Amino acid sequence: MTGQHEIPKKPILELKNISAGYADYPVLHQVNLQIFGSEVVCVLGPSGCGKSTLLKIAGSFLAPKAGSVVFQGKMVTNPDHHRLMVFQNQNQLLPWMTLEQNIRFALKHGPLKSHPSSWRERIAKSLQEVGLQNAAKLYPHQLSGGMAQRGALARAFGCQPALLLMDEPFGSVDAPTRSELQHLLLDLIANHHTATLFVTHDLEEALLLGHRILVLNSRGFITLDSRSTKPGHPSAVRQAMEHPDLRANRYDRP
Ligand SMILES: Nc1ncnc2c1ncn2[C@@H]1O[C@H](COP(=O)(O)OP(=O)(O)O)[C@@H](O)[C@H]1O
Ligand SMILES: [Mg+2]
Repeated sequence: MTGQHEIPKKPILELKNISAGYADYPVLHQVNLQIFGSEVVCVLGPSGCGKSTLLKIAGSFLAPKAGSVVFQGKMVTNPDHHRLMVFQNQNQLLPWMTLEQNIRFALKHGPLKSHPSSWRERIAKSLQEVGLQNAAKLYPHQLSGGMAQRGALARAFGCQPALLLMDEPFGSVDAPTRSELQHLLLDLIANHHTATLFVTHDLEEALLLGHRILVLNSRGFITLDSRSTKPGHPSAVRQAMEHPDLRANRYDRP
């Protein structure tokens, strides 16, 4: 991330007073969140605190019990191809298609669907960006876990979504691969300026990637750090580590 790109002042996504849960089980309680274009917001919290639920709400895959989701200034209730989800699962590429075909398929259903003449170049560029230019004809089962996640990134950024929703996308790869993928994502975001809501339970990952880090707890969010003002500052790490809600690993339910 270069930090040179100006973050627009108007939010691309707003979650307003969101309460959500499953049947009678409450998960999110009056959560408010704004993401501004080209900003990377990391949501940090342990397993089970509601991070995936928050992403599902942000992508309109789950309806909130109360509150509203506003995307690009309009209230939204259905998913659309401008908000694109990347999952942890390494099997998110369609197994019966090559890498190239996977990206083509996504383009066909994405924001660039009415520009088929641009697809070939876009596919090549996306694969090049993630270092998979020689793997275009491979099927997902022929890729390592790290390559598959690179492929998922190529597909996601190739579609040029306005907002990326990433659910612990590097959670299931080994540590060196994870670090490689994190730095690749930093480069991709720096090049594409894509607003990103990135969910993780890994503090170091949040500190590396986020312009802002929010801890999800029963009171909504606690802001821990702003990378735009304190890039990678060790005190930010300490501050985050010592935060009582993280230290005690305690996420009270409303
Ligand atoms: N489809 C579902 N039905 C019922 N409970 C669910 C469902 N999905 C998640 N939950 C519960 O909601 C809580 C929050 O889940 P989730 O948002 O997946 O947490 P996280 O992503 O932070 O691990 C957990 O207690 C989980 O068991
Ligand atoms: Mg989750």
